[in-house]
Amino acid sequence: MIAASAVPVITIDGPTSSGKGTISRSVARALGWKLLDSGALYRLVALAGQLAHLDPDDVDGHVSIARRMQVEFQADDTGEERVLLEGEDVTGAVRAETTGQGASRVAVWPAVRDALVARQRAFAEPPGLVADGRDMGTVIFPAAELKVFLTASAEERAARRHKQLISKGSTANLADLSREIAERDQRDSSRAVAPLKPASDAVLLDSTGLAIQQVVARVLALGRERGLWKV
Ligand code: DC
Repeated sequence: MIAASAVPVITIDGPTSSGKGTISRSVARALGWKLLDSGALYRLVALAGQLAHLDPDDVDGHVSIARRMQVEFQADDTGEERVLLEGEDVTGAVRAETTGQGASRVAVWPAVRDALVARQRAFAEPPGLVADGRDMGTVIFPAAELKVFLTASAEERAARRHKQLISKGSTANLADLSREIAERDQRDSSRAVAPLKPASDAVLLDSTGLAIQQVVARVLALGRERGLWKV
C-alpha cells in the first residue's frame, strides 16, 4: 500500500472502551502503518508517578515525568505488544484499571498535556500513522486526512470491558464498571483543556452491535474514498 501524501494520518478518537484500541491496531496492521496509543502515554505518566511515590496532586512532578520518561512500544515474538518504561516491562501495570483512573486524572492538567504533544507528533512517520486517543483529531493532528470519532452505548462499553477483564482472569463487577465508565466519560468530556469531543470534520461511527471487522472495513473504506493510499 503506497501512501498518497508523505505521512498521512488517520485519527481515531472516542470514549473509553469504545473499541478504539482494537480498531486502531487492526487498521494500522492492515495498512502496515505506525500506531500511536496516546492513552498509554497518559497511563505511563500516572504509573511512573505511582512508582516514584509522587503525591497524586503533584503537577510539576508529573510534568517532569511526561518530559523525561523513556518509553518503548515493542512487539514480542507472538506479536503481543509490550510496553517498556525506563527499560522495564510494565505491560500489565499500564493496562490496570487503577492506572487508567490515574491517567484520567493527570490528563486534566494542561502542563502534562503540553509536555506530551511533541512526543505524540513524533509518531507520524512514513508510510502513515493511525493515532488513537481523545484529542488526536482536535489537538494533536488537526490536519489529519481522516478523522473518526468512534462511539458505542455506555452499556455495550461496560459489557466489552467486563468481558475483557474476565478473559484476563481478573474479577470485575458489571455495575461497578458501568459507574466507573460513566465517571471517566464525565471527567474526560468536561475538562477545560482538550475535552473529549469530535472534531468538526470527524466522521461519527457508532460501533454498537457491530463486529470489529465491520468497523475496520468501514474505516478502510473511508480512507480509500479519500485517496489516502494508492492500491
Ligand atoms: O484510552 P485510555 O483508556 O488508555 O486512556 C486513559 C486516560 O488517558 C483516559 O481516561 C483519558 C486520557 N487520555 C487523554 O486525555 N487524551 C488522550 N489522547 C488519550 C487518553
